[in-house]
Amino acid sequence: MISITQRLSALVGETFAAEGLDAALGAVRVSDRPDLAPFQCNGALAAAKAAKMNPRQLAEGLKARLDALDAFDDVTLAGPGFLNLTPTQTFVEGLLAELVSDSHGGAYLRTDPEKVILDYGGPNVAKPLHVGHLRSAIIGQSLKNIMRRAGDEVVGDIHLGDWGLQMGQLIAEIRRRQPDLPYFDEAKTDGFPEDSPVSVTDLAEIYPAASGACKEDPERMAEAQQATAELQGGRPGYRALWQHFIDVSHAALETDYGELGVQFELWRGEASVDPLIQATVERLEAKGLLVESDGARVVEVARDTDKKDIPPLLMVKSNGSVGYGSTDLATLVERADEGFARCIYVVDKRQAEHFVQVFRTAARLGLYEEDHMEHAGFGTMNGKDGRPFKTREGGVLRLADLIDMVVGKAEERLRENDRDGDEVPADRQDVARMVGLAALKFADLSNPRTTDYIFDLDRFVAFEGKTGPYLLYASVRMRSVFAKAGTTIEEAAKGTIQLTEPAEIDLASVMLGYADAHKAAYERRMPHLLCEHAYAVAQAFSKFYAACPIANEDNITVRSSRLALSAATFRQLADILAQLGIAVPDHM
Ligand code: ARG
Repeated sequence: MISITQRLSALVGETFAAEGLDAALGAVRVSDRPDLAPFQCNGALAAAKAAKMNPRQLAEGLKARLDALDAFDDVTLAGPGFLNLTPTQTFVEGLLAELVSDSHGGAYLRTDPEKVILDYGGPNVAKPLHVGHLRSAIIGQSLKNIMRRAGDEVVGDIHLGDWGLQMGQLIAEIRRRQPDLPYFDEAKTDGFPEDSPVSVTDLAEIYPAASGACKEDPERMAEAQQATAELQGGRPGYRALWQHFIDVSHAALETDYGELGVQFELWRGEASVDPLIQATVERLEAKGLLVESDGARVVEVARDTDKKDIPPLLMVKSNGSVGYGSTDLATLVERADEGFARCIYVVDKRQAEHFVQVFRTAARLGLYEEDHMEHAGFGTMNGKDGRPFKTREGGVLRLADLIDMVVGKAEERLRENDRDGDEVPADRQDVARMVGLAALKFADLSNPRTTDYIFDLDRFVAFEGKTGPYLLYASVRMRSVFAKAGTTIEEAAKGTIQLTEPAEIDLASVMLGYADAHKAAYERRMPHLLCEHAYAVAQAFSKFYAACPIANEDNITVRSSRLALSAATFRQLADILAQLGIAVPDHM
């Protein structure tokens, strides 16, 4: 792994050791005060404390040793013993050369990759997608890319919500409307029609009607619960009708997710583990983990150390049907059997308690150690009123509408940038699409996963600031440099990089933080750390571009070096954008 902070830490660590101090305290990080120096080490204080020495004096000793190395241009002391470090141009240049020739592009690579399942879908059959599903898709797809880049074998599972009460609600509602359909004939056990009696559009109307009726009328609710239990119990007509719901929804979902550039390797759902539920219940029983509670069977998971009450996991309801917790538990049985070493759930953070219940139960069954099941929760995308984002009409989000909205805004922005008299490029629509999706995805990913954020279209689509379009703009500008110089990225990349100007050294130093950023994003499942790095790279490139002529540089050696530096920057940015699921247009 090529990491400038790691290399510097090693050097400074040796110096600490040479003074008889703990080498680990020599850790170097990117400076909080870049105006003073690009890197800093704060370990002298702790070392002085441990050695019962005067921190200033100890730091002086360290400085003398560091000065004697040829890695630093400048080592200064600040405060009671902070070390500010400015590496030499040669040091940075050497590392950059390693980065450029690294077969992994300087990204982080695990030495012990795992087989992981990432659960980042969770749309409910027949219910419309909501913003939570959007976030889970965008974050999940990005985490999948980040983890794959780090070497893990990652499989994405959509885990459809296809086995709960909403299924019984649909069946009961259709039964009321069309009682003569063969699916409701109890005597009939096979030979059901191949064509679905309902389309996705029908379902979108039937579901709200059904759930509304159930809310109002307890009798309708009882009907729906009964239908759910019978469906789960295997009633053939209900299963056949249910299969139609799944099939029509699958096709529509594949289109929706496809528009977003999100793919799943597995299209399983809650229902697919139904055959495992009985055995799972028996396993729990054998371990004495099931207890009776008001006719239902539950697993107690509370611990003395809990800060708040954790209710038991509901395994079997009193009418015999199973719920969300049971299907998630059985899914873990399946995932463990299939040899996945780790299961990660990219699901709304408000479901934290559910995952605590499921993970604790799974651990007691010996399926996984607790730290091999992760709930990577996320916050809500809110509207300007601070409540979960809705469309202008106040309805739940339709993904296609949301995409139209961002693409429309992107087109507006592009139009504003057109110079008078310029012809509108023929591919304007395609470019607007890429810009719009970049805006949406980057806005979502650049916030720490767990925080809520506000949907602000104007800000998302701005060409300046920490936005997707700004990063695309930076990449497109790099491309235009190669075009102007009459070369290609591949050709340009072959040049030897010599750093002379401060802006060049700064850009290189920022780029050398890639592995650290990627590793942190990977380990913490936090794509925003990668977004921040990408933004820092784009900004450093802008400064370099403003300060140093590239295609117009007269000195051939310098020109070739700057083209090579631009090519390396372009490649790193492209590598990151690909992991964020953001596609770069040829021009903007
Ligand atoms: N269907 C659920 C919902 O819409 C989300 C499922 C998340 N994944 C999981 N394995 N529980 O709330």
